[in-house]
Amino acid sequence: MRLSSSQFRGLLGGAAAERADLLLVTNAVRLVNSVGDSLPGMILEQYDRHYVLHLLSPDWRMFRREIEGFVRERGGKYLIVKERQGAASSRPEDIHEEEWISEAPSVTTVRERGLQFEVDLKDGLNTGLFLDMRANRSRVAALVRGRRVLNAFSYTCSFGVHCRAAGAEAVENVDISRKVLERGERNYALNEIIPGEHEFVRMDSLEYLAMARKKGRRFGVIVLDPPSFARHAQGTFRVKKDMPHLVEKAFQVLDFNGAMLISTNLSAMTHDQLEGLIRSVPEAKRIRTMTPLGQDQDFPGSGRIPESCLTAFFVQCD
Ligand SMILES: C[S@@+](CC[C@H](N)C(=O)[O-])C[C@H]1O[C@@H](n2cnc3c(N)ncnc32)[C@H](O)[C@@H]1O
Repeated sequence: MRLSSSQFRGLLGGAAAERADLLLVTNAVRLVNSVGDSLPGMILEQYDRHYVLHLLSPDWRMFRREIEGFVRERGGKYLIVKERQGAASSRPEDIHEEEWISEAPSVTTVRERGLQFEVDLKDGLNTGLFLDMRANRSRVAALVRGRRVLNAFSYTCSFGVHCRAAGAEAVENVDISRKVLERGERNYALNEIIPGEHEFVRMDSLEYLAMARKKGRRFGVIVLDPPSFARHAQGTFRVKKDMPHLVEKAFQVLDFNGAMLISTNLSAMTHDQLEGLIRSVPEAKRIRTMTPLGQDQDFPGSGRIPESCLTAFFVQCD
């Protein structure tokens, strides 16, 4: 069914109204989540006065005037459109970018539960803060007081910032990319958190886990959020093939009574499959409870499109 201009505006306004509660604790939210908001192929995110529009279908371009008007009415100063060319590729060269409003630079700062994070809307598909992990950040932060945390595959260290602010004894953020760790350092500075000795480690997470075990380092809480596919020192990492090995190594440095968040955004992975991978490792006999987790409340319809999926477990161990 082809929407009229006013029907389209109604759907946009309705989707934003659904997020009103969330906007009290953060100014970084997904305002439209494709089929979940009856706008299939359209994703709109707000980062304070900055907006990013992902078009999985070019048809929505016909509502450019309405979208720009909606963003301006909310005080928007920056709006960038990202459209995938052809298949659902996420390679930078396959993403067409177009600034529709550019009254501010692409970099800004957002707040989430009293903490601040730098985002850049013109740096590939990701902005620097994964909105879908918001509730999971809070869940992890709630139990780190006085404990040592390993944030493996840390990206820009948003879990690390939340954990330090919540009173973790120490946090080690490990990522292979120097650039994202530097962004992590800026996030620490924004929140006036003074980094500890091993706070930012540029290293392959698998190698890091092996080294930590050798040196007798243990953690009370571990965040394990690898990309679906990545290259590392010994070859390539693929969730389906390599997750058990990664989980086994993480168990070996997890304290008694420790907890882990294990997650993947591989769209083809169900909770049953991920649970099977986790339980396949010998150390899994230590698991006391496994709680399935997904994307936060501003991702209705999560799992119905590859761009909106997150399969995770919160694992409490003996
Ligand atoms: C899905 S993101 C993690 C998101 C992060 N947990 C968050 O919530 O912000 C995956 C990260 O893994 C990093 N990465 C990829 N391969 C890696 C490896 N072999 N060792 C360590 N980090 C790696 C990437 O640089 C990227 O920052």
